[in-house]
Amino acid sequence: MIRICMVGTGYVGLVSGACMADFGHHVTCVDINAERIRGLERGEIPFYEPGLDRLVLKNVQEGRLFFTTSLAEAFKDASVVFIAVQTPMSGSGEADLQYVMKVGEQIGALLDGYKVIVTKSTVPVGTNRRLAEVISTHLKTPGTPFDMASNPEFLREGSSIDDFMRPDRVVIGTETERSEKLLRDIYRPLFLLDTPIVKTGIETAELIKYASNSFLAVKISFINEIARLAERVGADVFDVAKSMGLDKRIGPKFLHAGLGFGGSCLPKDTNAIVHIAQEAGSDMSIVRAAIGVNADLPGRALAKAESLTGGLQGRTVALLGLAFKPNTDDIRSAPSLDLVAGLKTRGCTVRVHDPAAAENFKLVHPDLVYCRSPYEACEGADLVVLVTEWNQYRQLDFAAIAAKAAGRAFLDCRNVYNRPHLEAHGFRYDCFGRAGQTSAPA
Ligand code: UDX
Repeated sequence: MIRICMVGTGYVGLVSGACMADFGHHVTCVDINAERIRGLERGEIPFYEPGLDRLVLKNVQEGRLFFTTSLAEAFKDASVVFIAVQTPMSGSGEADLQYVMKVGEQIGALLDGYKVIVTKSTVPVGTNRRLAEVISTHLKTPGTPFDMASNPEFLREGSSIDDFMRPDRVVIGTETERSEKLLRDIYRPLFLLDTPIVKTGIETAELIKYASNSFLAVKISFINEIARLAERVGADVFDVAKSMGLDKRIGPKFLHAGLGFGGSCLPKDTNAIVHIAQEAGSDMSIVRAAIGVNADLPGRALAKAESLTGGLQGRTVALLGLAFKPNTDDIRSAPSLDLVAGLKTRGCTVRVHDPAAAENFKLVHPDLVYCRSPYEACEGADLVVLVTEWNQYRQLDFAAIAAKAAGRAFLDCRNVYNRPHLEAHGFRYDCFGRAGQTSAPA
């Protein structure tokens, strides 16, 4: 059993803390947000993540998981401190490290014996070195020993517990045997699953995270660019992706064309790696192109919507799904935000439904018509747009929608349905990258 201090109870910190406690370690999660900590003590999870409430409750009840607002308290007996605070994107696209560095200052002031300080937040290459300097300059007893380590997370929202418990790999960037051993001991339960532990230097571990997320973003933008070409040349991206994916060197995942990537990681990390490269006198031209392709997709959706309705001005539009992907309430960098902005500019009445993200969306766009079901959202709609492929939108009752909607147009931004199915219910249909699936314009 290792005593762990987890700084930050956001997505990464809370999931990692709860999972490490479930591995049998003693984990104290600390956050400056007192309201959040009080809620967690009552078993309230501050965001939507399937299974996390049960995991937190179980480990609290079994006496392995604790919450506090006091870093000093969480820090005291811990042999390892994970930093999992936010690294938001600054206005210029680079990672904003003020929260990480502030924690570094506090750690320096508290450190009174050897500990390993591990970054779990995604931080630009070189941050661990900078952080070590910050900690050193704030040490109350100069010379107190500590080691830095980088242990990036690869958690997907909506399936993060499974990703933590059954990872494809664990990356540990360390420089001493002592810190390497400690991190290996934390992840020891995964040895039973034969999980590859990739041991690297610190800068390499930092870069692995950006390289992985950028590659995923490039893969998505690549298929979205193929989708655009497929429409022009009379091909079907669905079959192209399926066939590409059967090549083991390519693989089938992250080849779904549609509205592109959003969320808290891919948009932020692609922008950050472009900055990291610029500062290093290098260039990430492929990633820059992927960002550009992704940015164009909401505009393409709006153009399709114009064509399906014969003009969007003043129309009523139903959006099914607001979250950046299914099984999350996260709307950060969600394409729905650009769609809504575009629809508002065109004077549309926007009716929306999402199983989890509506409350978050209301904070940004309080003036939409929020509905309790997808069918209610379709009432009086000239156009229905499937934005996020939640499972509950995969078997829609189109007879019921037709009975409520004013128009007969359906834009499928995630390629879930097909034209014959929709036309059988009297709807014009369009999707992304599937020539022959687009109904005649209105
Ligand atoms: C991602 C990484 O997968 C994870 O390893 C990292 O730690 C954090 O960032 P997440 O942001 O939760 O996780 O979402 P993910 O499931 O990777 O999807 C990212 C975005 O790409 C979503 O907006 C999704 O809709 C989109 N996507 C994904 C596609 O448009 N097409 C695809 O084929 C796959």
